[in-house]
Amino acid sequence: MQKTELPTFARLRRTRMTATLRSMVRETELSKNDFIYPLFVVPGTKFKKEVSSMPGVYQMSVDEIVRECIEVKSLGIPAVILFGIPEHKDEIGSEAYVENGIVQQAVRAIKKEVPELCVITDVCLCEYTSHGHCGIVRGDEIVNDASIELLAKEALTHAQAGADMVAPSDMFDGRVLAIREILDANNFQNIPIMSYAAKYASGFYGPFREAAESTPKFGDRRSHQMDPANSNEALHEVQTDIEEGADIVMVKPALPYLDIIRRVKDTFQMPTAAYNVSGEYSMVKAAGRLGWIDEQRVMMEMLTGIKRAGADMILTYFAKDAAKLL
Ligand code: PBG
Repeated sequence: MQKTELPTFARLRRTRMTATLRSMVRETELSKNDFIYPLFVVPGTKFKKEVSSMPGVYQMSVDEIVRECIEVKSLGIPAVILFGIPEHKDEIGSEAYVENGIVQQAVRAIKKEVPELCVITDVCLCEYTSHGHCGIVRGDEIVNDASIELLAKEALTHAQAGADMVAPSDMFDGRVLAIREILDANNFQNIPIMSYAAKYASGFYGPFREAAESTPKFGDRRSHQMDPANSNEALHEVQTDIEEGADIVMVKPALPYLDIIRRVKDTFQMPTAAYNVSGEYSMVKAAGRLGWIDEQRVMMEMLTGIKRAGADMILTYFAKDAAKLL
């Protein structure tokens, strides 16, 4: 056997020898400022119920959400994103775009008590429709153009309630433009749109649908959300949203799509968000509880990986846990 000699004097281990050296050469630093914390608001008062598939995540009434937001702010997390579960659902998701809807109430209450917190609202109909689809359904078709009019109305009522940013998550064509037009026409030129631009039809949304009570009663979301096998199409989706006026573009989920995050960031150089979704959270929590992995370590590794891939912002249910460690 031949003796192998190092070809150069390079020894990459030199800069790994101490914690100080490792911190000096570290390329990616996670920060509390990277996080956006998702919250689920429900009708009622003094209501706080844990989502069984998402330990540490709760459905909360408006008063409890305000308390939570005070804590979120004090932990140094800059933003929350709100999802609403209405009193009544119907075919056209009426409660999504009424002045006193559940999200609209929550926004007003939060902005009154914690004005510095950035309040983002998820704009979609799936939590509000009786069939659980993200828009209007005719026959077995999830209709595009009539749905985006309702989404635009929903976004407007969120802005009127005081939302700092709106985030359409439906993946219908043309919705960013429809929202931009209605916001501008109503003097909300300065409200940014964070678009769920490359959102995949994913099995990782399972626990969220329990939290948001938004599981479709029939069919699935494959006629509007993206096929997990596609990458070029994601760039096309993102480009379209940017042309329509998106200010921040999102890739969702995060972990199986790190390559997409990187391509989007490199191609467009836009503020880029990644959604570390419910299933990604629940897997870590479950394996951690079983003692199969070190939950905190895996959490930080995942979040660092998402940032390293190119995300400027991470929507994550881990935001509070991670902020406490940073
Ligand atoms: C609503 C919406 C979904 C998520 C965010 N907004 C679910 C879906 O598309 O079914 C998923 C978030 C998560 O899994 O954490 N359209």
